[in-house]
Amino acid sequence: MHREKWASKIGFMLAAMGSAVGLGNIWRFSYVAGENGGGAFLILYLACILIIGIPLLLTEVSIGRQAQSDVVGSYQKLAPKKPWYLVGYLGVASAFLILGFYSVISGWSLYYFWNYLAGQLAVEPASGYQAAFGSFITNPFQPIFWHGLFMVMVIFIVLSGIKKGIEMANKVFMPTLAIILILLAIYSVSLDGAVEGLKFLFQPDWSVLQDPSVYIAALGQAFFSLSLGVGTMLTYGSYLSKQHRLPGATVGIGIMDTLFAIISGIVIFPAVFAFQIQPDAGPDLVFITLPEIFNQMPFGSVVGILFFLSLTLAAISSSISILEVPVAYFIRAMKWSRKQASIVTGLIMFGLGVLSSLGMGVLSGVTPIGDNNIMDSMDFIASNIFLPIGGLTMALFFGWYINKKEVFAATDLTNSRLRHVWYTLVRYLAPIGIIVIFLNAIGVL
Ligand code: PHE
Repeated sequence: MHREKWASKIGFMLAAMGSAVGLGNIWRFSYVAGENGGGAFLILYLACILIIGIPLLLTEVSIGRQAQSDVVGSYQKLAPKKPWYLVGYLGVASAFLILGFYSVISGWSLYYFWNYLAGQLAVEPASGYQAAFGSFITNPFQPIFWHGLFMVMVIFIVLSGIKKGIEMANKVFMPTLAIILILLAIYSVSLDGAVEGLKFLFQPDWSVLQDPSVYIAALGQAFFSLSLGVGTMLTYGSYLSKQHRLPGATVGIGIMDTLFAIISGIVIFPAVFAFQIQPDAGPDLVFITLPEIFNQMPFGSVVGILFFLSLTLAAISSSISILEVPVAYFIRAMKWSRKQASIVTGLIMFGLGVLSSLGMGVLSGVTPIGDNNIMDSMDFIASNIFLPIGGLTMALFFGWYINKKEVFAATDLTNSRLRHVWYTLVRYLAPIGIIVIFLNAIGVL
């Protein structure tokens, strides 16, 4: 069967960056860094990106490009009749879990964008920003409407195809996003008192490293942020031709993703400190704390429009990449058309989103894991368990199962020193790192 391809390598790069840069860099990074003490967390996160993330990114993209198939099909092709493909199903499951909560938060972002545009949020609601946000997300209908609208846009882009949908959207979104975030960062740093925020982000407080949960948080954040372990990068890689070289491209994607996380930290923390607000507000940071800040600062309503526009664009470009994982699988395995696969999969994800949205209100008593509500449980299982398992399997697959020669050919690593470094990381350091962090998180180490 005919498989579509990217129109250009830069199209692939933008799409992969669009996938990586998302709510994870802006909403998740800022609150996880805030909760885990800022600077020291940032260093751990950077270490995870460098030692585990980027080498595995090259691994994941290479598996897809080599096999030219979806996340299940690729393993079946490269290791016929061996159980490796089972991890492909884990990837498909992760995609459902992630988009099942990601699209709800994206819906909140869309709602905020719309309300800033309409001038509604430019003045503080009578009940205050916190209560207004609380009553919005616990409402049984309103957030589901915005979540639905968001999913319609995502489904539309994916069903329009690789070139005309995904590649095109990213070509417009990514440059827009970069420009807006850089402008916002410059503005934030110019606020009086911004220095404290920069200190929080860049001056490590090593005492937080005594808490084992910081390590798994940094690893989970690295995987989530790089879109690793789901099969997203594998699937995107499968639309690349063999003539494109991969090592430079994947390092570029990793660097851009990290830059975007740091830039959004520079947007958020100086403002948080300039207005003397606590940085560890958790997931609410961007929806309550920031509006409070925007309300007090000059041109705050314009900043609000731009900020939530960028958050929404970043969310769309990541969501399409998550939806594409099961869509590519269904197109091949069930012989569905792209249109059918996008709509059916998108609707199931919409349904999961309804559950996680209701979990904020009517279903708040449902706590599948610990005292986490439905949404946090989905995030926890996917980011801290499934994605690292997905990543670990990829590392073992290329580091131990497939022979060295084929692996070097698949990754285009020609420089012998680079080869050696990458191979050592993927064969030893990445798997050991993931396992140690895991054991540490469950209290074995
Ligand atoms: N990387 C995306 C973000 O940071 C989220 C994502 C995770 C996308 C997994 C695809 C796969 O927002």
